[in-house]
Amino acid sequence: MPGDSSVNFSVLHRICKLVVLLCFLHIAVTVVFYVRSFDFRVAFVQNQQSNYNIPMFRNTNRVVSSGLEPAKEEKVLEQPVKKLEKCPETSPLLVGPLRVEFNFSVDLELVKKENPNVQPGGRFKPKDCEALQKVAIIIAFRYREEHLKYWLHYLHPILQRQQLDYGVYVIKQDGNDTFNKCRLLNTGYAEALKEYDYNCFVFNDVDVIPMDDRNTYKCFSQPRHLAVSLDKFNFRLPYVQCFGGATSLSKEQYLKINGFPNNYWGWGGEDDDIYNRVVTSGMSISRPNSEIGKCRMIRHNRDKLNDPNPQRFNRIAHTRETMYKDGINSLKYQVLSIQKLDLFTTITVDVGKP
Ligand code: BGC
Repeated sequence: MPGDSSVNFSVLHRICKLVVLLCFLHIAVTVVFYVRSFDFRVAFVQNQQSNYNIPMFRNTNRVVSSGLEPAKEEKVLEQPVKKLEKCPETSPLLVGPLRVEFNFSVDLELVKKENPNVQPGGRFKPKDCEALQKVAIIIAFRYREEHLKYWLHYLHPILQRQQLDYGVYVIKQDGNDTFNKCRLLNTGYAEALKEYDYNCFVFNDVDVIPMDDRNTYKCFSQPRHLAVSLDKFNFRLPYVQCFGGATSLSKEQYLKINGFPNNYWGWGGEDDDIYNRVVTSGMSISRPNSEIGKCRMIRHNRDKLNDPNPQRFNRIAHTRETMYKDGINSLKYQVLSIQKLDLFTTITVDVGKP
């Protein structure tokens, strides 16, 4: 029938149109997906190149779960890591002469707040430049808590202004035997090196405070005497061989003299022995001038178990013969505890008996 065939034809026509439409739709979807995947591949390759070629960039700002709550967001941003320039030879932050007094009591919580950049264990390094030296400051210690507080109060701000990469180590002698300062200082040297690659060591009596921040706590081409004009001696060097109070030696200089003598028990003489070691090794003493080298010493009575050592004169007379047998190469000690406190690291040691 003519009517039937025209109906069939129109149905067939519609079906064909639908098929063509679907084909177009399919092609369009394929093209869109292809283009998007191409973009993604280009971005991936660029990303890979930037990771390899620009190591100054690293991922930061990672927001992760504390472990108690589910992580909400993990946002990884690219942030430049600054390649730090070396710090200048003379820090621009120095202020010169300082007022040093001991007529108030020090609150260590306050000292901590005033020095927010000091890290646990008494560590610090400048943020804006790479420090020229890594300095371990070693303090031999017993019974002098109040003096240590003054030391921390005055020294942390000075050392930061000096742009040093430094750590403070308080080495405490355990037990009730006579004090042996040099065993404690040698222990400080050995223990600090286990923790960080220090290349300079400052040995500071707990009661000696510099009065000028230009007296830099770093190492020089020769062993350095830092406490050159003490108020106790009317701001004069008491004798030319004097090498006490505060000194600095590079790792090489310290090893050249075989560290410090281990057999001085009680007060006196050990610094004279160190002086003898320095000159016997062919080195000399470097010093700041008497203005910059001004220091104050906290007045105190003699500690118990630290009486003058009667053997010191005899020992000093024989440094040359003893120094290569007795020193860091013969040091024996036992660490009893290591505590990282806010402003310093304290290491309690058994250094043996006289
Ligand atoms: C002692 C030193 C001490 C100096 C200054 C000398 O007699 O041997 O150990 O540093 O006096 O007090």
